[in-house]
Amino acid sequence: MLQPVSAPVSPEGPVLQAAADTWGSVMEQIRSKQARIAVVGMGHVGLPTALGLAAQGWRVFGVDSYLPLISLLQAGKAPFYELGLEGLLLEYLGKGFFPLDNLNQAIREATVVFLCVGTPQKSSGEADLSQVETAARAIAQNLNGYKLIIEKSTVPAITAQWIDRTIRRFARNEQQGKVTVDFDVASNPEFLQEGVALQSIRQPDRVVCGVDSERARAILEEIYGSLRCPLLITGLSTAEIIKHAANSFLSMKISFINMVADLCDSIGADVSQVAEGIGMDPRIGRRFLQAGIGFGGYCFPKDLRAFIFLAQEYGVDFSLLKEVEAINQRRVELFVKKVRSALWVLRDKTIAALGLAFKPGTDDTRESPSLRVVNALLQEGATLRAHDPKAMPLLPKAPPPGAGHLTYCDSPYAAAAGAQALLILTDWPDYRRLDWQRIHREMDLPLLVDGRNLLDPETMSRLGFEYISVGRPKAGAR
Ligand code: UDX
Repeated sequence: MLQPVSAPVSPEGPVLQAAADTWGSVMEQIRSKQARIAVVGMGHVGLPTALGLAAQGWRVFGVDSYLPLISLLQAGKAPFYELGLEGLLLEYLGKGFFPLDNLNQAIREATVVFLCVGTPQKSSGEADLSQVETAARAIAQNLNGYKLIIEKSTVPAITAQWIDRTIRRFARNEQQGKVTVDFDVASNPEFLQEGVALQSIRQPDRVVCGVDSERARAILEEIYGSLRCPLLITGLSTAEIIKHAANSFLSMKISFINMVADLCDSIGADVSQVAEGIGMDPRIGRRFLQAGIGFGGYCFPKDLRAFIFLAQEYGVDFSLLKEVEAINQRRVELFVKKVRSALWVLRDKTIAALGLAFKPGTDDTRESPSLRVVNALLQEGATLRAHDPKAMPLLPKAPPPGAGHLTYCDSPYAAAAGAQALLILTDWPDYRRLDWQRIHREMDLPLLVDGRNLLDPETMSRLGFEYISVGRPKAGAR
């Protein structure tokens, strides 16, 4: 249950006293949803967040400095595939949701500013926070009244303190050298999963808010109060660490089960049943124990490296996580080895690859293990016939020079035509429902290597395939 809102903390000093007088009206505007919200960064987190808020009755500016992206949104087109997103955009465009490329204007008109800008990684693994800093400086220059700045981007601990310090530095009144307006910074890490982003926003498992003032807490409780989930209020750095720790822990679960899969492969045991058996223990849980070619995407690999880097910065040797990353890196090599030992020479072999996105439900191929497999096979001179239900239009048309041939196919059946092996690289549920007899007929050799354990070994074997998966015995070998 949400805690009752306590009285606002009285801001310090004579200059800030004026802000205290207006606090009542700020809260009044928040309660009546008259206050405007700016969401800065219209990517995979920002856009669903902005539309989710608009659907709750807020008036939201969706801000991005990339003009073509804003033009696309203004035309009612979603810039990436996400179930239900375009429908929601069309429903709220110009009603509760206003795409804007003018950050200064959005900040001036808003009382609450969500920062959802990118935090890409540097070569060291450290998070690049330059977009966060740019936004903080813009906020400083447009502080025309009380504002709550909420960081939603995944950032290392103490970033909120840096945002606060940056705004104070750049908002100094030139005559008196004092900050003349009032603001708070909060951390509200986002746990949404791509592909089910809107569901993650409407029905989250929990909402975590890191605050260091009662005012920030009061506003966040108003924004999230209607959700039926636990609201955990913590300090700022704690909230920041929760996000990195959650993603690192889930990555660790995946690497753990992938190692168990390797052992199962050697011994002839079944990793899916091991996952089921250990997952029935509520202390472990069944989710994120799907063995395969490893994790990818914009978050897990990057956040894991950023967390390792952060620990190192503070003198903590988090070698456990270094191993999680190393295990994940090896998944693709091991899978390619599996394909090689089934096909022998890869040069000039025709291989169908089903699935290019880093997971089903998205067209996102960032750090996709599927693409790493495809590239490794191309480098060995194989001819690839690839299919993905959503990701193909966004991919480069030609393979790197010197590599084998790559063709994108309209359907899995077209990809299978004449292939000597078919690989499942992304676990799109639609692939489970394919006409596998037809695929069998299309293929030159019926070899199926399932990198996601999507299909049933017995069924595939009955259909005449030589079926190889990850950590599961071949049919009849149990
Ligand atoms: C992740 C977190 O789940 C989310 O809470 C956070 O906000 C952002 O990062 P996302 O990147 O959308 O979300 O993908 P997720 O569903 O977590 O999958 C990540 C990767 O792990 C995918 O490549 C997926 O295929 C892989 N995975 C997932 C496995 O290999 N096995 C599993 O059991 C689960």
